[in-house]
Amino acid sequence: MRAILLLLILALALLRHAPLAAGKEEVTVRVFSMHKGMWTVPTTEVFLRYNFSQVEPLNQLSCCYWIRMESFIATNVHFSYAWSAIKTNGLSLYNVGSRFRTLFANQVQTKLDEIHWPGAPDTWHHLCHLFNHHNYTLYWQGQTLRGDITQLDMWRRQLSADEVMEMASCHLNTPGDVFSSALAKFEVFGNVTEMSMPIKQLCSVSPNYLIIPEARNFLDSTTLCRSFNASPAVPSSSSDNHILYSALQPFLNICNPSASWKLWIGLTDVLEDGVWRNVLTQEVASYLNFSNEFPVLGTIYNCVEMVEGGLWTVDACDQTTKRCAACHIEREHFLSLRGLCFEDEHQTRFRLNGHVNGRPVFWGYYDYIIIWDILDNRWSLKNTISNVTVAWTEVLDLTEYPLGRRMWRLEESLCGAPQGSNLRLGLSPCSLQQFMCHSGSCIAAHLRCNLRYDCEDGSDEDECEVVVMKGGYQKHLAPAGSGGSLLTVTPSVTLARVASVDEINQAITLELELSLAWKDDRLVFKHLGVTTEGGLLSQAEMGQVWLPRHQLTNLEGGKIKQLHQAVVVRGTDTVQKPGFNSVDTDLVYPGAQMTITQRYTATLTCSFELYSYPFDAQLCTIDLTFPPDYKGNVKFAVNNTNIIYTGKKKLSLFVVENVKLSGKSSESLVVVEYQLNRRQGVILLTTFLPSFLLLSISWATLFIRIEDLNVRAVMSLTTLLVLYTLFSNLSSSLPKTAEIKLIDVWFIFIISLLFSNIMAHIFAGAVEATVKYPKRMTVVPRDQTEIQVKKPASGRLLYIQRYLIIPFVFIVFNIVFWSQVFR
Ligand SMILES: *[C@@H]1O[C@H](CO)[C@@H](O)[C@H](O)[C@H]1NC(C)=O
Ligand SMILES: *[C@@H]1O[C@H](CO)[C@@H](O)[C@H](O)[C@H]1NC(C)=O
Ligand SMILES: *[C@@H]1O[C@H](CO)[C@@H](O)[C@H](O)[C@H]1NC(C)=O
Ligand SMILES: *[C@@H]1O[C@H](CO)[C@@H](O)[C@H](O)[C@H]1NC(C)=O
Ligand SMILES: *[C@@H]1O[C@H](CO)[C@@H](O)[C@H](O)[C@H]1NC(C)=O
Ligand SMILES: *[C@@H]1O[C@H](CO)[C@@H](O)[C@H](O)[C@H]1NC(C)=O
Repeated sequence: MRAILLLLILALALLRHAPLAAGKEEVTVRVFSMHKGMWTVPTTEVFLRYNFSQVEPLNQLSCCYWIRMESFIATNVHFSYAWSAIKTNGLSLYNVGSRFRTLFANQVQTKLDEIHWPGAPDTWHHLCHLFNHHNYTLYWQGQTLRGDITQLDMWRRQLSADEVMEMASCHLNTPGDVFSSALAKFEVFGNVTEMSMPIKQLCSVSPNYLIIPEARNFLDSTTLCRSFNASPAVPSSSSDNHILYSALQPFLNICNPSASWKLWIGLTDVLEDGVWRNVLTQEVASYLNFSNEFPVLGTIYNCVEMVEGGLWTVDACDQTTKRCAACHIEREHFLSLRGLCFEDEHQTRFRLNGHVNGRPVFWGYYDYIIIWDILDNRWSLKNTISNVTVAWTEVLDLTEYPLGRRMWRLEESLCGAPQGSNLRLGLSPCSLQQFMCHSGSCIAAHLRCNLRYDCEDGSDEDECEVVVMKGGYQKHLAPAGSGGSLLTVTPSVTLARVASVDEINQAITLELELSLAWKDDRLVFKHLGVTTEGGLLSQAEMGQVWLPRHQLTNLEGGKIKQLHQAVVVRGTDTVQKPGFNSVDTDLVYPGAQMTITQRYTATLTCSFELYSYPFDAQLCTIDLTFPPDYKGNVKFAVNNTNIIYTGKKKLSLFVVENVKLSGKSSESLVVVEYQLNRRQGVILLTTFLPSFLLLSISWATLFIRIEDLNVRAVMSLTTLLVLYTLFSNLSSSLPKTAEIKLIDVWFIFIISLLFSNIMAHIFAGAVEATVKYPKRMTVVPRDQTEIQVKKPASGRLLYIQRYLIIPFVFIVFNIVFWSQVFR
């Protein structure tokens, strides 16, 4: 390579809105057109050449031109130069899709790849390339350009940014000192046409109106323009009005031939009588061109229409008043055709421009075109290079457009689909971040499947299935875990409530929620981001996929009732975004985590340990396991088990504590344990206190006069009977176990004490009956020696019983008993 080309600036100027300097005489420019026309096939034979061999070497170069593509081709070469006829591509400037490229000495200038060029067809673009260079010969070729080029100038210096801006806004027209296409004598190859046009037209923004030659009411016309990525036409100046009327001319006999009113204009005064606003932007119109007697005010006539001659009148905006419409299409706006197999997003773009067979034409940016086939009454997708119909779509209604999601019948094999088959394509202005309604209108992606209708045709709630099945799914087979290992299922147990505790049958009724989380690589999912919870499987979908089963091994007599079941799928980071060719724009989530949550009331057994009743604490479990056929396929992720208790801690008789994973858990068994600590409160009042009181009464009988045997015996016997009743009542509320409980010991002890009291009474009476004592004590004077009076034996027995045995035994027993309890 002899010279190093340094790319200094790529000035891409699209300043088409700059006003022209007034008062200057009109300058015309020389425009060269190549390959124009719908069916013209671009060939390399069509170009202009300029022999540059006399030019002395340069160190710097500026190169500017205006270019307008009619439509794009794979490589749109704007111009190129070569050192010789053999050494081509010394410099080549071109665009591939929305990327601008420069090739120098057959090397792509990669920096340019970072620039996104918003090139649109049928629009003048001003481009300036400023190079630092020396030594070249230039051939200018229109080799593969489909469109127009003008004002190609080259300077032997770097232009300033201001100069570039001046040129881009059609203010400056300095010819290049190295080269100027305005003056150059070209060798012409092929059909290159030359014409003149005012330079200001390069910068003009004349509105692009498209007549929709079918009668619709005002609302439908507005909606249709929106589906074309356009807005209803609203002329904003006299010249705009003229352009619109000119566009209407060919359709005067088609739009309402019997009457003079023709075309809706996008203005209404619905909000405020007499104030005409743009129906989309609600801006008050500054330009109006009503005919003399109009507008009439009032609530009936709220919409504006154009009549023959170009003036405006008002009319009713109701359902039945139908007119042709006009859409104002920005030249950069486009629709996307999705469902084919384009290589570049730029190729999916279509724009509406002009009419064929009386209906608007959808021009692809590249080789395709969608036109109305008047013979067969259908829309045809044609290839402009080969002039063959590739596919067509039927209409149900002759006013219909091929918008939205619809089936196309292939006339040729296309994108791998055979000839004669049906292919689903979508044509709409929707971006990939939007959802395309069936009709072709667009809504934000988050409104898709949100359980509310957002598309006017309701299609946003169609096909909202969460699970996407791949072929050959066998629902009875568990999915494999990662890396071919066992499937790992993460359990989580929420103990919602301890409903009842049945001590007799040693069973506890619980309300619990079991969740099992797993991943099924065989499935992919959609619509997971719609709610914060994730996607919810429908009943039908739950029937189609593998769901893990489980068993509660300590279930009491099969007493389980499922209250609720749901399968939730939560999104992952690995989201597959739709490509520019996909008709469906839903995000796809492979390998998302599924969670089955089941809520039950279940009665589980628990072996009660009542030794220290009522100071006992019961340790119960929920034993969760897999059915036997899962062995070797599925395991629990024990360490990740999540266990929570959401119910009340304090129940009527127990306090629930220590709900946690037991150490006995393994990969095949999850044991959740919880502790029920008995609340003694009332039990103390209903067992120990009455028995203590009865003992006190029985003890008190020991103080009754010895003569009243009846009273003593009856009373102490009664206490025994009452206590026994109490004991047997208590026993019946506790499970029958062979083991001795501390409470039994307590009662047996009290019973024994009561029994010993009765015995004491009986034996005291018996002693009295056999030993005769003087009825009366003889009182001896003070000075006389004391007479030894023997105390009656019976009194002594009761005395011992009452002051020694009972208190002593009671105290000793209590010490031993309570030390056992609080051990
Ligand atoms: C040359 O191209 C123009 C359009 O650019 C077309 O109207 C004309 O018919 C073409 N002439 C020939 C001879 O192909
Ligand atoms: C360019 O012009 C020079 C002389 O004017 C001539 O010798 C040369 O062959 C031309 N080159 C081409 C490629 O036509
Ligand atoms: C271009 O440069 C080469 C060598 O660098 C030289 O031989 C040739 O004469 C130069 N061409 C012109 C037109 O100056
Ligand atoms: C109104 O429209 C008519 C018909 O196109 C045109 O002749 C006239 O100049 C327009 N008036 C204004 C103020 O634009
Ligand atoms: C394209 O094909 C149609 C028939 O399919 C034909 O009428 C038309 O003349 C063709 N156009 C060109 C430019 O070949
Ligand atoms: C769970 O964790 C314990 C220690 O934290 C470890 O010994 C055991 O292997 C883990 N079990 C599993 C299945 O990962």
